[in-house]
Amino acid sequence: MAKISPSILSADFANLERDIHDIEKNGGDWVHVDVMDGLFVPNISIGIPVVKALRPVTALPLDVHLMIDRPIRYVEQFVKAGADWLTIHVESDTEENTLAALRKIRELGCKPSISLKPGTPAKAAEPFLKECDMILIMTVEPGFGGQKFMADMMPKLKELRTVLDHVNPQCILEVDGGVDGNTCALCKENGAEVLVAGSAYFKAQDRAAFVKTVQA
Ligand code: DX5
Ligand code: ZN
Repeated sequence: MAKISPSILSADFANLERDIHDIEKNGGDWVHVDVMDGLFVPNISIGIPVVKALRPVTALPLDVHLMIDRPIRYVEQFVKAGADWLTIHVESDTEENTLAALRKIRELGCKPSISLKPGTPAKAAEPFLKECDMILIMTVEPGFGGQKFMADMMPKLKELRTVLDHVNPQCILEVDGGVDGNTCALCKENGAEVLVAGSAYFKAQDRAAFVKTVQA
């Protein structure tokens, strides 16, 4: 069964606790937290104090997606704030710093993950595959919720699953961007095990049914 990680980027920011309890009630598996710095992506969202405030609100894993420049500067603070999974982007720093950041995340007791923007080829992930517990494939340009799903990312997902089966079979694949009741099937067929959904989850008439569709 696949997992769903509803993205609180589409939640009501004045009622995050209520919306996270709603994710629990509807059977969501994780809570996806999008962190943006206005540099790596052209948007600013939430940061360390919010992750810290949300930690005691839920027992669900916090799936924190850092869309920030040189994340090595902040990984320790995000782990200490309560992230269970911490994703950094391969495009956000040098290979050396990205490796160091992933190792630091693991040393601190959190699960390390790397993400690839749509224009970044699967090959760019290769130096990091053995250091990660998850690879996040963006199926939209990072920065905003509610964008159109890029089906042309599916070959990249499939390619990474094949490579991971050789070098790190335990490592899971997550997709993020434009996932809805239709596009989720394509993602799962191509190897996605965790699916992030922001607008489709929060706009669903029947959120519990939507969760079941994504998990099926
Ligand atoms: C985009 C974020 C996503 C976003 C997805 O940069 O990483 O997690 O919340 O939103 P939807 O599901 O609406 O595409
Ligand atoms: Zn995200």
